[in-house]
Parts: sequence; structure tokens; C-alpha cells
Amino acid sequence: MFETELTRTLKIRYPIFQAPMAGGPTTPDLVAAVSNAGGLGNVGAGYLTPDQLRSTIHEIKQRTDQPFGVNLFVGEQPVESEEAIAQMASYLDTYRYKLGLTPNPSILKYSESFEEQMQVILEEKIAVCSFTFGIPPQDMIQAMKQRGIVVIGTATTVEEAIQVEASGLDAIVAQGSEAGGHRGTFLNNGSDALIGTMALVPQMVDRVSIPVIASGGIMDGRGLVASLALGAAAVQMGTAFLASPESGAHTTYKQKILSAHEDSTAITIAYSGKPARGIRTTFMKDMQQYPGTIPAYPIQHTMTKDIRQASAKANNPEYMSLWAGQGLRLANDHAAAAIVKQTIDQANMLIQKMSK
Ligand SMILES: Cc1cc2nc3c(=O)[nH]c(=O)nc-3n(C[C@H](O)[C@H](O)[C@H](O)COP(=O)(O)O)c2cc1C
Repeated sequence: MFETELTRTLKIRYPIFQAPMAGGPTTPDLVAAVSNAGGLGNVGAGYLTPDQLRSTIHEIKQRTDQPFGVNLFVGEQPVESEEAIAQMASYLDTYRYKLGLTPNPSILKYSESFEEQMQVILEEKIAVCSFTFGIPPQDMIQAMKQRGIVVIGTATTVEEAIQVEASGLDAIVAQGSEAGGHRGTFLNNGSDALIGTMALVPQMVDRVSIPVIASGGIMDGRGLVASLALGAAAVQMGTAFLASPESGAHTTYKQKILSAHEDSTAITIAYSGKPARGIRTTFMKDMQQYPGTIPAYPIQHTMTKDIRQASAKANNPEYMSLWAGQGLRLANDHAAAAIVKQTIDQANMLIQKMSK
């Protein structure tokens, strides 16, 4: 009943993607559990070194023979003034002092090499590769397609979706403003691109002819049926899987996911320099008063790393990034396979009820 053009292309049973979530949640256990349950597990590999990416892919292949995806951040050249970086470094030292960290640690590099990550993607036979923060260069798209990799982009506006399609990608994740984590917005046309999933998906579907995957605030069978009714070919669910036992999210983070509400989140650039939705923290609140310029992504992301890690180690959520979408009251701690099954069972029941 839930077969779509996209599920046939991907050879998956259900139109359910577990969202790639960089920074730890998408462990090989989570990705494999979702793929084994008939959905598409996805690794958030944006922060992985090429070696970590390769070993993660191998670990997943040991756990499943089903298709799964890898997600990367399209490489960005960070541009920021020395002055803004120095001002932030000294401001962040106040948190380092509280957390017992070394002041102003030296930073060797701001991000992993996108080209080297792509090399791993091309060498390992993976089924699906998705991207956020932009569209990969044409030569990389062609190289992936020659190897039979299904290539998926992310768009937060119809204009971005039109560009993703024109670049020859195979499908688009429509990321609504409810979504947890970083905004995939890449066209700097003065709009903040905060379009809700309900408004974004049908407008995108009307303008592009490749499959659209609805994402943002989808937590269960109701969200799946609604998304299919809007014309989506699948859904991508992130927050729904964050508190599952297979998720690598920190225990304190999982507890926050399970106790937070629909109004607990906000969009912030405080942690990384790029807009992202997460559960509100003291750090986000403090940074609203920051007198200088917050360095651009990924500079700020790297500069706050030791603070986020020390906060997690101390089980203190207030300086951690707690990325989450607006569907929080619907989150649960069930096993990943059970979340896939409940979503499909509920969707089936709803469709039967509605057709009576
Ligand atoms: C913790 C977390 C990390 C995320 N990391 C990524 C990522 O690495 N790549 C990506 O394309 N999307 C990422 N996202 C966004 C998801 O792909 C998706 O748009 C979002 O989870 C959908 O909203 P939902 O959380 O309400 O389901 C992340 C989301 C969360 C919650």
C-alpha cells in the first residue's frame, strides 16, 4: 500500500527515511535497525573523518544487507574576520572557566575535507547519498550516478528545489521549518526560508517532477499519511528516532527529548554559526546578548566543540546542542524497528478509517 516510485527505485519496503543526524545519534545500530525494518536508515556523516566514514559504512554492512544512505554537508569555505574569531574565543573562555577547560584551545582545522569524504562514498558501494547545505559539484554528481548511487538533495524553498532538480539529482528532501537540526538553506536571497512542511511540500511537488521527501515535524502514522496526501513520495523523520535505544544521543539529551514540548525549541546560530533548531538552553539565551559577530559556520561550530563536549560529560544540558524538531510531545523511547512498525500500522489504520 505504501509503495511509491521512490520506494521502488530504492528497493525499500516503506517510504520512511530515518533522518541522517550528524554528531552521534545515527549509530550503525540505528541505521541498520531502520533499514532492516523496511525503511531507509541514513548516517549523518558530515563531521566524520574519511576513515571514520569508511569504518561506519563497514559496520552497517555487517548489520544489514538492505539499502542505507550516507549524508554529507556540501563543503563551505569559512569566511570570517580575525577580529570576530578572537572576540568569540575570549568570550567562550568564560564558559571554559566554568567547565574547567583550558582557555582558548588551538584549532587545527574547521571541518573535514568534503573531497576526501566523497572519495570514500565513491569507493564504497552505497545505495544512497544525500546532501545538505547546497548542491555538490557536477563532476561529483556524475561520478555518483555512474556508480548507480541515488543522489538526494535538500531544499527549504521551491526555488532551491528547482535548482536541485536542474542539477540532475534524483530526489529532494523538503525540509520544513518544524525540522530539528541545521537548516539546509543554501540560497541567500534575503529570505530566512522558514516554510512549514504543510505549506512547503505541495508547492514543491507542483513545481518539480522528481520525488519529494517530506521532513520536519513528522513523528508517526498521521504525519506519514498527511505527507503522502500532500504529494510526498516518502517522509524523513529525525526527532522521532532520537530517544530510541539504538540512537547514540547522550542520555541527558534523550531525557530532554522525552520531557520537552512543542514550544520548547528555537532556531539559533549560537552553537555553529548556521541556523539550527534545538531545545532552548542557557547558552542559546546568553548568546542573544553577545555584543559581537558570531563567526560563520563551521568556524563557530568548531570553536564551541570543547564546551559542548564538556557539558555532555558533566550531564549538564545547558551548554549542549540539543537539536530537535517541533513534534517533541510525540517522541518516545521505543526501539527503532518498533517506531517504523508503529508508523506503518497507524498509517494503515488511518487510511482504512478514512475510506469508510
Ligand atoms: C540531531 C539532528 C541532527 C541532524 N543532522 C542532520 C545532518 O547531518 N544532515 C541532514 O541533512 N539533516 C540533519 N538533520 C535534519 C534532518 O535531516 C531532518 O530535516 C529533521 O530531523 C526533520 O525534522 P524532525 O526532527 O522534526 O523529524 C538533523 C536533525 C536532527 C534532529
